[in-house]
Amino acid sequence: MYIILLGAPGAGKGTQAVMMAEKLKLVQVASGDLFRQALAQQTGLGKKAKGYMEKGQLVPDEITIQMVLERLARPDVKNGAILDGFPRNIQQAKALDKALAAQGKKIDKAVYIKVSEGELLKRLGGRWICRNCQAPYHEVDSPPRAKGKCDRCGGELYQRADDNVTTVKKRLEVYFAETSPLIDSYKRAGKLLEIQGEGSAADVNGRIVAALR
Ligand code: AP5
Ligand code: MG
Ligand code: ZN
Repeated sequence: MYIILLGAPGAGKGTQAVMMAEKLKLVQVASGDLFRQALAQQTGLGKKAKGYMEKGQLVPDEITIQMVLERLARPDVKNGAILDGFPRNIQQAKALDKALAAQGKKIDKAVYIKVSEGELLKRLGGRWICRNCQAPYHEVDSPPRAKGKCDRCGGELYQRADDNVTTVKKRLEVYFAETSPLIDSYKRAGKLLEIQGEGSAADVNGRIVAALR
């Protein structure tokens, strides 16, 4: 099963991807996490992506598509994946369809997590991430059990460099211009599940699981 998570920055893609991956025994493949890992390890890929991410722009398709397709080709993905943050424009969606079709596979569903802009800004302002496993927390709504430490792996929590007000504004602009057209495209393909993304993360997860059944 291949499921795409669509939604604006802060909609809860990462939060839901972790929960769904556990429940459905699928692997979370998050393009943003892959870039941040590359950045932390100072690889060539990380160096190429850095400037775009800091500005809130999309990393060019040729870099992003290759990175994600390589990740999807690894053996742990053989039963499918929860795709978080990819595809993010029509070109990426086409490349993904083509790569899956070559293996006799396809995207089963695209889950669109819908959240108001005010709520997105509030969420991104209070977000903390695990440096080790990338699990997201919120200082008010979902704090870790021990301050500064990840519940899942004990890793150190940090705030993302692109969660400042200026970059968030740019990320939202890019989302509306380049990514949101995918919503219609998956709707036309009969694959879209539109989910109300406000309320607790557990409530949202319940809605997603119910819609997927
Ligand atoms: P990426 O890492 O994908 O960031 P994003 O799309 O901007 O989304 P976020 O990760 O910010 O939000 P999320 O939806 O995962 O929310 P989360 O669950 O953390 O991309 C970063 C950059 O990498 C891009 O700008 C681009 O440069 C590059 N990039 C990545 N993919 C690319 C691609 N395909 N092509 C080109 N470039 C690419 O939740 C947010 C906060 O809210 C957390 O604090 C969380 O705890 C909290 N929260 C979650 N759910 C709830 C809830 N129900 N109620 C209250 N709080 C909640
Ligand atoms: Mg995320
Ligand atoms: Zn962790």
